[in-house]
Amino acid sequence: MNQNDKHHDDTHNDVSKTLWHGRFAGGPADELMAYTVSLPFDRRLWRDDIACSRAHVAGLAHVGILTVDERDAVLAALDVVEAEMSADTFVFAAGDEDIHTAVERRVTEICGPPGAKLHTGRSRNDQSVTGLRLWCKREVPLVAARIVALQEVLLDRAREAGVGNDAVYLPGYTHVQRAQPVLLAHHLLAHGWAFGRDIERLLDALERVDVSPLGAGALAGSSLPLDPEFTARELGFARAFDNSLDAVSDRDFVAEILFALSMVAVHLSRIGEEWVLWTSDEFGFAVLDDAYATGSSMLPQKKNADIAELARGKAGRVIGDLTGLLTTLKGLPLAYNRDLQEDKEPLFDAMDQVSLALSALAGMIATARFVPERMRTAADAPTMAATDLAEFLVRAGTPFRDAHAIVGALVRRSLAGEGALVDLVRAEPRLGDDAAALVAPGVGVRMRTTPGGAGPRPVALQIEGFASALQQWKQAIS
Ligand code: ARG
Repeated sequence: MNQNDKHHDDTHNDVSKTLWHGRFAGGPADELMAYTVSLPFDRRLWRDDIACSRAHVAGLAHVGILTVDERDAVLAALDVVEAEMSADTFVFAAGDEDIHTAVERRVTEICGPPGAKLHTGRSRNDQSVTGLRLWCKREVPLVAARIVALQEVLLDRAREAGVGNDAVYLPGYTHVQRAQPVLLAHHLLAHGWAFGRDIERLLDALERVDVSPLGAGALAGSSLPLDPEFTARELGFARAFDNSLDAVSDRDFVAEILFALSMVAVHLSRIGEEWVLWTSDEFGFAVLDDAYATGSSMLPQKKNADIAELARGKAGRVIGDLTGLLTTLKGLPLAYNRDLQEDKEPLFDAMDQVSLALSALAGMIATARFVPERMRTAADAPTMAATDLAEFLVRAGTPFRDAHAIVGALVRRSLAGEGALVDLVRAEPRLGDDAAALVAPGVGVRMRTTPGGAGPRPVALQIEGFASALQQWKQAIS
């Protein structure tokens, strides 16, 4: 039986034991509880909620609101709760609206009167967002590590594609029209750099996550001598909040992480779209390993790139998580509003979906077989040399605009059936044999010498540069 079943199997006798029923004559309606509970999703914060409570009781004892014995009794009860949660033996009660209520209720059951002091000077408003910040501090580096794992696959495959004489190259595209040949290593690392920016964005967001809201109370702090800096230190936060109203209602950090995750999802989606194309018969640039492809229930011959398609499709969902949260936030007056409870599901969903996509795509790309012959054939189309021919003329002193027109006219004549481009080039007095050599297979990609460009020399340097950047991203995460 999972924890949700336990929750629902309980009788509703306990329901008047919500945290707030002192002020109410009767118990809550079933519909109210069904609609407002957050336990089904915020139970995921149990570790963080326990950490938050440990720091809070330590803080209360630190300023003399709890005795050392009371503090130790609550801490011991929190240890029991932690053990029960870890072993999945914690029994939720019908009145447990959220994980915070559940933990406090159980602590009080276990240790009695000292437990009833746990919530002193604290509100679920500062408590829930403190837990969520702790969760982000733990989970964001994990998703960043999955990004690194995918980058490692891209780097391995880039090295394997090579920069030497037998390096794999393919057409580079603009407007999905063949443009100029590029090394496969260059293409793969283009995605690698984008993921590097994603890691930097996630880590940057963590700097603003690193502020403890604990002590802000419901919205205004407390008349008790709380020490927010003390609890911030206990929890490993860089510092405590500056403004209690802001502290309980700020979800910028969730929005920032959701944006960073949306950007990851968009990058994954773009790779997904490419691999859908690359694995089609029309392109034939890559063949998926059977373990990372799916079949059709009706069409026996089909081998589909469903991982790539879902990486593309689920980006919409993650962007929806971001959009949903921003829409929730946009009309909220200060300070806490129950709407803010809607912060957790989009965050958890985006984190889950992006994590799954990262692992699935990493496996798919690591195990796929590239088809260099197909890539080369596509990249060796004579017209792919057009820019090199124009630049040949530029080196001889022709203004680029004129060179563009001269070569463009040759391409037009060739397409009109007047002859192979290479023959027209040879016959053109301003071009000739040396220029015609540029049309030969495999020559064009070697002409790209610009630092950061697509040819062998810059890509060799880039591979080393990427490898060392990857070490730095890795270090920044750990
Ligand atoms: N479950 C709630 C949340 O996640 C806790 C805060 C409830 N606070 C309140 N005043 N009703 O936001």
